[in-house]
Amino acid sequence: MRATLVCAALALASAPGALAWGAAGHEIVATIAQMHLHPDVLPVLCDILHPGSSKEADSNGYPPCHLAPIAAWADRVRMTPAYRHTASWHYVGAKDDMPGESCVFPGERGWAGRRDSNVLAALGNQTYAVAGFLDGEVGLAEAADALKFLVHFAGDMHMPLHLTGRERGGNGAKVTFDGRMTNLHSVWDSFLLAQALRSIPANYSRPMLGDLEVHLRGAIYDGYVRRLMIDGFGLSLRDKDGVQVRSGEGRFGAVEEWLACPSEDEDDEDEFAEQESSVMQTVLRSVGRVLSLEGRSEVVTRNGGVRRRRHNRHTKRARGLWSWLWAGKDEERWDDDVLCPYAWARAIHELNCEFPIWPAELDKVAAAGAHSSRSVDVEGSSFEHHDCDMDGGDAAMEAAGRPPRPHPELLELDTPEYAGRVREGWVVERLLAMAGIRLAGILNGLVLGEGENDVRIH
Ligand SMILES: *[C@@H]1O[C@H](CO)[C@@H](O)[C@H](O)[C@H]1NC(C)=O
Ligand SMILES: *[C@@H]1O[C@H](CO)[C@@H](O)[C@H](O)[C@H]1NC(C)=O
Repeated sequence: MRATLVCAALALASAPGALAWGAAGHEIVATIAQMHLHPDVLPVLCDILHPGSSKEADSNGYPPCHLAPIAAWADRVRMTPAYRHTASWHYVGAKDDMPGESCVFPGERGWAGRRDSNVLAALGNQTYAVAGFLDGEVGLAEAADALKFLVHFAGDMHMPLHLTGRERGGNGAKVTFDGRMTNLHSVWDSFLLAQALRSIPANYSRPMLGDLEVHLRGAIYDGYVRRLMIDGFGLSLRDKDGVQVRSGEGRFGAVEEWLACPSEDEDDEDEFAEQESSVMQTVLRSVGRVLSLEGRSEVVTRNGGVRRRRHNRHTKRARGLWSWLWAGKDEERWDDDVLCPYAWARAIHELNCEFPIWPAELDKVAAAGAHSSRSVDVEGSSFEHHDCDMDGGDAAMEAAGRPPRPHPELLELDTPEYAGRVREGWVVERLLAMAGIRLAGILNGLVLGEGENDVRIH
């Protein structure tokens, strides 16, 4: 899910219209999120993105702005000097992660790359920056960037190959798709989605979502979003007279559960404390805990349970101190009990080995090839994902128009066993929907405050 300026320029030069595909995944996530926002939330977000413009829906119910147009912004700026430092914020990877042989997240040697310079830390940081703005402590320009990053990173975090450093998230793993040479990362960024978008049945092209139609903008993926809403989320359909013609029974099941974080109750903390051997760590930990507890308050969740939520204002300050003091695991610093990017990402990362998204045959093919250039470099600064690679990404659509050249030495992924399983399992659809729901939960919680990070269910 990317479209750098350079890539975009090349893609536009060689294939008019191809740009939309690179951004499509992110825009779909943003659209799903927008449909699940509380009605009071979007106007506040629009005011951050487009200050001074109208905050009201117009007389036809069209919202004051959309999130989809800003969803791929973070990819467009990452190659520019001012935002070059954000390039590593789009992914994360553990040093010893080797899908499809063995998946660790993070394993004994921990995370590759600079500390806290990854998508999991970024998701929290950008959320707290928007919260800081709503508390009057952060400027508008910073908040607008943070909101755009947040919308984008929610998508990246749900792309399994953004969670492994192996061969730059699969960018270095050459494969073919329908005979076209590309790489594993691009298959998941673009080719599978492009294929799904091309094969949406025609009956999803007419308006059918009632009030929710206002969130669609005549994009190439409108039918895909309708299908997610109806067949995935189980939106019930009504005819012109309001009579229900199709009842809601969706493939996604109880999507509220996607918002859950592992509960951090006292038992867990005690158990964890026992495992801590160093006295110094225990001392530092309790100092950190006092600092973070200061801003916590009790809220009652929808199921009646009591959940602690850190108050935004305190959290931002406490987090800085906390991370300085806290010598424990990174992932415990990134997650709290309402926003838990690490816990969410862990399950998605597992797909790399379990589905498996990284096919085991890929290694066999590479080993057999005389010119195998397989390399595993996930250390330090060489840990770079998402090169501008014209063989893939936005070129997916362009490639579809050309007859394929045979590449018998590469693994073909447009097969019933691979692409077919992805389609039948609704793997891409589920990941995009999950990202949208979690993004909506975060945004609702940010604007409405404590305990309100539920999503609007239709
Ligand atoms: C997140 O914030 C922490 C604390 O300010 C900082 O050390 C880290 O570099 C930031 N990471 C990202 C990805 O923004
Ligand atoms: C669209 O048509 C397909 C069959 O081609 C059917 O399975 C599906 O339920 C239809 N969807 C709607 C929303 O009418």
